[in-house]
Amino acid sequence: MAYNSGLTPNERVVDVGEQEHSEWTGKRGRIGGLLLGNRLLRWGEELAFGRSISAVLKEVASLINGDETILDVGSGSGGLSIPLAKRLSSGQVICLDLSDEMLARLESRAQKAGLERRIKIVRAPASQTGLEADSVDFAVSNNVFHELDKPKQTLAEQLKVLKTGGHLIISDFRPTRLVSLMEKSHRPYEAEEIESLLNQAGFKNIEIRPNRHRFLAYARK
Ligand SMILES: C[S@@+](CC[C@H](N)C(=O)[O-])C[C@H]1O[C@@H](n2cnc3c(N)ncnc32)[C@H](O)[C@@H]1O
Repeated sequence: MAYNSGLTPNERVVDVGEQEHSEWTGKRGRIGGLLLGNRLLRWGEELAFGRSISAVLKEVASLINGDETILDVGSGSGGLSIPLAKRLSSGQVICLDLSDEMLARLESRAQKAGLERRIKIVRAPASQTGLEADSVDFAVSNNVFHELDKPKQTLAEQLKVLKTGGHLIISDFRPTRLVSLMEKSHRPYEAEEIESLLNQAGFKNIEIRPNRHRFLAYARK
């Protein structure tokens, strides 16, 4: 089962072969989708590692009218997308992920919350979204950047799909000792590294806010 947003699968579901992958598939995707959709567990995560979803929501809330298009890169089962969609009156959250299992969970959560019109599901890799250039007001992501196979290409893609003046918000882990116990197979970035990657990609107004285990990066196109 592959999700797309009304276009034919070949237009939306890009086959990236070995080049880009998500480990959140199969059983891990089904269990992960449930756990990452649990509000109590997410609250515990913020307690242990610092604010993540709540920090992105606060930032977006201070900038939106309600009619925006928000791309959530690596939306998973909707930990960030669902509360974002609740803040929109007429806009849409484009939920992009490579995992069918995660997206299936997101779809069912969106239906239960009556958010079908505020949520659009796209199965595609982060570096090749298939979205039109200059088409989104926000590109956001939470707990995804450290998992990306192609971080530079993903930033280039986000710059491409953002409208001029559009906002980029990335929230993710830093490579602290506690994080490295949990994220053995991944590559968390230091605040300076993210700043440099955003500069290289061509973003403006870059602001990185690190805390003990995480950072929130903000930039504009
Ligand atoms: C740790 S989960 C976070 C999900 C969600 N953002 C949240 O905070 O609940 C990471 C998600 O990123 C997705 N992902 C990882 N690499 C990806 C890529 N290259 N393209 C698209 N999605 C990707 C995974 O499938 C997974 O759903």
